[in-house]
Amino acid sequence: MMIELLFLVLVWGRLVNCDDYAKELPKNIFILAGQSNMAGRGGVIDGIWDGIIPPECKPNPFIFRFTAKLTWEEAREPLHKDIDLNKTCGIGPGMAFANSVLYRDPSIGRVGLVPCAIGGTNISQWARGTDLYNQLIWRTKAALKRGGIIRALLWYQGESDTKSYDDAKCYKSNLERFFTNVRADLGSPILPVFQVALASGEGPYIEIVREAQLGIELPDVRCVDAKGLLLQPDGLHLSAQAEASLEMDKLHLRKLVFETKTSPKSDLYQLDTTQIQN
Ligand SMILES: *[C@@H]1O[C@H](CO)[C@@H](O)[C@H](O)[C@H]1NC(C)=O
Ligand SMILES: *[C@@H]1O[C@H](CO)[C@@H](O)[C@H](O)[C@H]1NC(C)=O
Repeated sequence: MMIELLFLVLVWGRLVNCDDYAKELPKNIFILAGQSNMAGRGGVIDGIWDGIIPPECKPNPFIFRFTAKLTWEEAREPLHKDIDLNKTCGIGPGMAFANSVLYRDPSIGRVGLVPCAIGGTNISQWARGTDLYNQLIWRTKAALKRGGIIRALLWYQGESDTKSYDDAKCYKSNLERFFTNVRADLGSPILPVFQVALASGEGPYIEIVREAQLGIELPDVRCVDAKGLLLQPDGLHLSAQAEASLEMDKLHLRKLVFETKTSPKSDLYQLDTTQIQN
């Protein structure tokens, strides 16, 4: 009798756990891609991260991270530690973004971040068919396997394309093609894209790339401007404080969340075009 009872308790425990686990899976999935300032170098000096986490980037039991092993875990800085693994990662924009999403609408449910950024990469390395592109699509699809909805692509890249005039000049068409391909290959033709206009670059053609970023001619692509934010001593990477203050969602999210809630069948955010300032 005791043994049967024990068995029942164990089985019941299992069922409850499975159920809890399903509820734990993130519903709102955001892709993080680009190069080092997305992967995060805030607080990294000479290859060592100081380990200081700004309040905006603190962990939250509702924020998850999709690991290199394709599992979900509670998200903690550095978000790209097992993705951009040949570099020292520090603070990027992802945690501050996710905390801000939850702050604006605590009822939105769990947020899942899919880190895909790799330091030092140029836009050609993200073209359709490249390893990085395939990884982004593959990881996102794997993240969606157990449910959830892709809410947006967060993109911060272009520093490597400021070295040559030709690369900078082609940046706009390359970036538009990249966004269009990602949307097509994820089956989300109006997937919102939140991107960052450069604060710095590896070469002299920063302004050409910034103009491209601020002038993207596709619907539902929005840009926050990082120009003037505090950099690390290397003059290339955003400081932890700058990454934390980036608020990649600040122009858009209130309305997005509202529209998502009022049209539960819609699997995409609608952007609030009345608030756009770029
Ligand atoms: C890390 O370095 C190894 C060896 O050089 C290389 O094969 C791999 O592609 C690199 N990975 C990333 C993510 O940069
Ligand atoms: C992009 O980076 C790769 C790898 O460093 C390099 O081989 C390639 O020439 C670069 N492409 C452009 C257009 O700059």
